[in-house]
Amino acid sequence: MKRNLISMLDVKDDLEEIIDLGIKLKKKSKNDESIELLKGKTLGMIFEKSSTRTRVSFETGMTKLGGHAIFLGKSDIQLGRGETIEDTALVLSRYVDIIMFRAMKNEDIKELAKHSTIPVISGLDDKEHPCQVITDLMTIKEHKKKLNGLNFVYIGDGANNMSHSYLLGCAIAGMNIKIVSPKKYWPIKYYIDEAKKFGVKVEVTDIIENATKNTDVIATDTWVSMGDEAQKEQRLKDFKGYTVDKKLMSIAKPDAIFLHCLPAYYGYEVTKEVAHEPQSVIFDEAENRMWAQIAIMVTLCKN
Ligand code: CP
Ligand code: NVA
Repeated sequence: MKRNLISMLDVKDDLEEIIDLGIKLKKKSKNDESIELLKGKTLGMIFEKSSTRTRVSFETGMTKLGGHAIFLGKSDIQLGRGETIEDTALVLSRYVDIIMFRAMKNEDIKELAKHSTIPVISGLDDKEHPCQVITDLMTIKEHKKKLNGLNFVYIGDGANNMSHSYLLGCAIAGMNIKIVSPKKYWPIKYYIDEAKKFGVKVEVTDIIENATKNTDVIATDTWVSMGDEAQKEQRLKDFKGYTVDKKLMSIAKPDAIFLHCLPAYYGYEVTKEVAHEPQSVIFDEAENRMWAQIAIMVTLCKN
């Protein structure tokens, strides 16, 4: 049976196996051992939105695996001129072995997956960003040597793709998760309810004072996601006071780490001081996109 990765729930049974595989293949490759596990395979990468990390990490990851990746910007292919997602899926399935899709809408990735005969991986949509959260959990595991029982707090836009995937991902990994966000931007109820099913502590609050107390991991993301640009002015007003700064970091556990999927907008969701200080692991996190996705592609191709 072919497997897709569209939601964190798609890896609920083997999340830590994938993370451990990413850590193992990273070590192997850095020791100059071959990790050519997808020799001769091709990845098609469809992009409807901009990207630095997703594009480069998938392409270089596929090269390390002995395969090849093709960049398919939406406006460069017939999808941008009205060819259906169904036909695009049926045609690409005849050429390539995996598809990665960065889409405006979650439904479009589901539609592509429905008609593809090969695995489909989300490279982000309006609801989730699973590759990033698997990467973030891998980065946390490298730094903390465990996931289960850690206290994780996400500050910022609670209704965006990162927040939703963190809710599911942390819960699957056995971590307690707190989302700190103005009420207007609280997560979609479905993600809160699903997270609670894993038996961890799930809290959603708009109280920023002392929000990071007793926390192992602090994360944030842009206040204005791709597609939200028209609301930028309103959002900057609404999120005022929710910047991750030195003060919030200082009340977390002394060995707490800071995560940001990037790109960052300094002075808004985080100060540059916090993002570039030693407690921040944002560039390990960026690098790990490649290693986590290597593990994801190997796992999905096994089925
Ligand atoms: N974090 C992330 O997905 O970055 P890009 O938008 O650059 O791919
Ligand atoms: N929430 C952000 C993530 C960027 C990688 C966005 O969707 O723009």
